[in-house]
Parts: sequence; structure tokens; C-alpha cells
Amino acid sequence: MNWKEDYQRKVTKPEIAIKDIHDGQCVVMGHAAAAPHVVQQALADHCEDYYDVLLYHMTTLGDNPCYQPRCFGHFRHVSNFLSANSRDVVERREGDFFPAYFKDVPSMLDRDIPCDVAVFQVSPPNAEGYCSLGVSCDYAKAAIHAAKTVIVEANEMMPFTYGDTMVHVSQVDHIIPCSYPLQELVLPEPGEAELAIGRHCASLVSDGSTLQLGIGAIPDAVLRALGDKNDLGIHSEMFSNGVMELMKKGVITGRRKTLHRDKAIVTFIMGTKELYDFVDQNEQVEFYPVDYVNSPLIIAKNERMISINSCLEVDLQGQVASETIGMRQYSGIGGQVDFIRGASLAREGKAIIAMRSTAAGGTISRIKPFLTKGAAVSTSRNDVDYIVTEYGVARLKGRTLQHRAQDLISIAHPDFRPALIEEYESRFHCKYEE
Ligand code: COA
Repeated sequence: MNWKEDYQRKVTKPEIAIKDIHDGQCVVMGHAAAAPHVVQQALADHCEDYYDVLLYHMTTLGDNPCYQPRCFGHFRHVSNFLSANSRDVVERREGDFFPAYFKDVPSMLDRDIPCDVAVFQVSPPNAEGYCSLGVSCDYAKAAIHAAKTVIVEANEMMPFTYGDTMVHVSQVDHIIPCSYPLQELVLPEPGEAELAIGRHCASLVSDGSTLQLGIGAIPDAVLRALGDKNDLGIHSEMFSNGVMELMKKGVITGRRKTLHRDKAIVTFIMGTKELYDFVDQNEQVEFYPVDYVNSPLIIAKNERMISINSCLEVDLQGQVASETIGMRQYSGIGGQVDFIRGASLAREGKAIIAMRSTAAGGTISRIKPFLTKGAAVSTSRNDVDYIVTEYGVARLKGRTLQHRAQDLISIAHPDFRPALIEEYESRFHCKYEE
């Protein structure tokens, strides 16, 4: 059978495709802007037909109709990276969080997570019958390989991207042709503090560096400070519109990259339609599975690798909490530690954690004597390298506990320095010197 006949045979409606999902099964869904919204809507509409189906996903953008309270009991959500809407579901105890490095998800789908059904959004097929995974490559191939049943939404608006993104029509069981805009992520305009953080980070970036940019407002603010650099490269778990802007301006060229020269390497993107249009059929950008992109040994092959991530709080030893506020699970680890380790292993690499010095409208210092009770350590004091706030840069690698505390106090918000100094003097039995 040629692929076109195969395609026609597999084309179906969402209400029909979801009949292949059964009670108690585990369904692994596409990630971020590639989450399968047509199937999610069909599942929500027919939720009373299901009992105790596990829905695995990572970050979700926009509304997921399966998060509605009326779906509780029919579906249970499991995620290793929470965003605004899934955080609510976990807090309502209608979903669960599992800690895991993002890079380990593909191998877990083989060994630890029973993947009965895989549901992904893809582009329509090309002339050879290959669909592209579009804006999210991450764990899709692993799930499609592991699942007993594969359902894809062939969305006309999903960009056709390059790298290791091809899925052939013969690999799937049900195809739902559709056309709907991808969910967008619009980052807030950076304020004064973010712009100052950007300038401090930029002082650590030399021409020809390869960058990883984490999630949140700060990494994109850093990009705004890099306009006068030359020949930067990208090897990043994700990126947003800021990278596109610098590619268009010729600041990011990849010309001096020591791995995947001339290409921006990524596993998923989240941004606006302009970004999604930019990556469509764009040979400058290549998407690879997350176990490759986030592997510290692969990352380390990039000389002058610089990772730039954000966090929620840091204690005076340099322990970094990036995913919890006390016992509250806020997000997930993603690739933070893998990129910190990869950048630290790379020749002339640097690993930066950048954050505002305060949170909650300036009422809380993010530099603290101790992490908030219950906080999970995301980046340990053994891995931490540079910490940046709007007040400057502290390099912790190779520094003693006492020096770390001194350096961190020097970049804390001035309003909170007296309390930190008091802790310092009682901890180290000596006067704090500016
Ligand atoms: N105590 C209390 N509240 C805190 C806090 C703290 N220590 N730190 C932050 N908050 C609050 C903020 O005030 C803010 O609340 P608001 O929205 O009401 O103003 C909220 O928590 C979010 O903080 P913010 O720093 O603005 O988040 P962000 O969107 O910039 O994301 C991380 C920052 C750390 C959550 C995000 O980068 C992350 O999840 N990192 C871990 C994963 C990672 O680095 N992956 C990298 C590869 S993609």
C-alpha cells in the first residue's frame, strides 16, 4: 500500500480515535505548543465514558479542557513540569507531579512509565509521507515507539521543522486532520531589574559563545543585552522569540559553534506565531529529542557553552531552589542541572543562574540564610557556578562556604542585607566586611 492510501485509511474523527483509549490506561500527550487540543477536547466532552485514565504531559499552554473539575475521577493528570493551569490541578489534588530530569523522560517511557497510547500534534505529511513533529520534538518519538496505539492530529498550522522530527504515516494508527493556531507564549516586557540582570549576564558572554536559555522572563531579557555580540550560537532545551530576533539581526549565526556549526539546536520552542512561522522549513534551526539536546556530554562538546537559567531562591551555601516555593511545586527541573553540568564540562563554559534579588513585589529576599522549609534543591551547591541578580555577579565555584555567603550578600537586595549579615556573623563568628 502506498502512503497516501495508508493515510486515507487512518484518517478519522477525534470521537472515533479516542475509543482506542481504555479505563486505567496511560496516555502520553504532546508538550507545550504541540499539545493535542482536538483530542483533549474530545476526551473532555466524553469524560464520563472513562475511568481512571492517566494523562501524562509536561508544560501545557492555554486551557486544557481535561483540567476541568468535572473530568476528575475520569482522568488523572501526571506531569513533571507544572505551569499555571496544571499547578491548580495538582493543588486541587486532581493531579500529581513526578520529579524527573526532562532528558530522562524518553528512556522512562520505555522502562518506568507504561505508555499505552501516545497522542501528538504533527504537521501534515510531506511528499514522502513524513509528518514533522514541528515545535516540540522532546519525547515524542520515544512515546510513539513505546505506545500500543498512536493518535496524531495533523495540524495544517504546525510548522514543518528539521532535525530529527520526522514521523511516517505508517508509524501511526489514527490521523485527525485539523487546522487550528498553536498556543502562544507572550513574555512580559522586562523591567529595570531584568534589564540590569541582562547587562550583568552579557558581561560574561564573549563573542562566539553558544547559549542555552532557560524558561521564564529573565533569559529573554538577557538576549536583549546581547545585541552587540558576534557569532553567538544556540544549543538549548527551548527558546522563545528573543533568539529569533537575534538570528534575524545576524547576532546569532552559529558560525563558531564546535557542534552543529551554523545551526540553532533545540528540543522545543514556545513563543508567538511569528516564531512558529520563522522555524517553518527553516534549515538554520534543528530540533532533536530531549535526551540528545539535554545530555551533559553532548552539551559539553560546545566550546564556550553558556547556560542561563533562573531560580526561585538561593541559600547562603549556594543551594538553588528553582522549582518549589517551600512545599509548593511551582514548575519542574527541566534541563537546568543538565545544562549547568554540560556548560561546566565544556571548554571555557560558564553556568549562570540569574534571578531578581526579591520576589512577591519586593517583600521577600530570594537570597536567604536557609531555603524555605520543604523546598527541593534543584541545583546543588556542588554544581552551582555563577549567580546573578540586578546587583551584580557572584561566582561561587571553588569558593569556600564563608566566601560564598559574603559574595551572595553583596548581590542581595540592600533592604535584606542587614538580616543576612547578622546570620553570616553568627554562622562564621566574624565581622562581615563589605
Ligand atoms: N518566595 C515566594 N514567592 C516567590 C519566590 C520566593 N522565593 N520566588 C518567586 N516567587 C513568586 C514570584 O513573586 C512570582 O509571583 P507573581 O507571579 O505573583 O509575581 C512567581 O513566584 C514566579 O516567579 P518568577 O521568578 O517571576 O518566575 P518566572 O516565570 O521567571 O520563572 C522559574 C522562574 C525559576 C520558576 C523558572 O525559570 C523555572 O521553572 N526554572 C526551573 C527549570 C529550568 O530552569 N529549566 C531550564 C531549562 S528550560
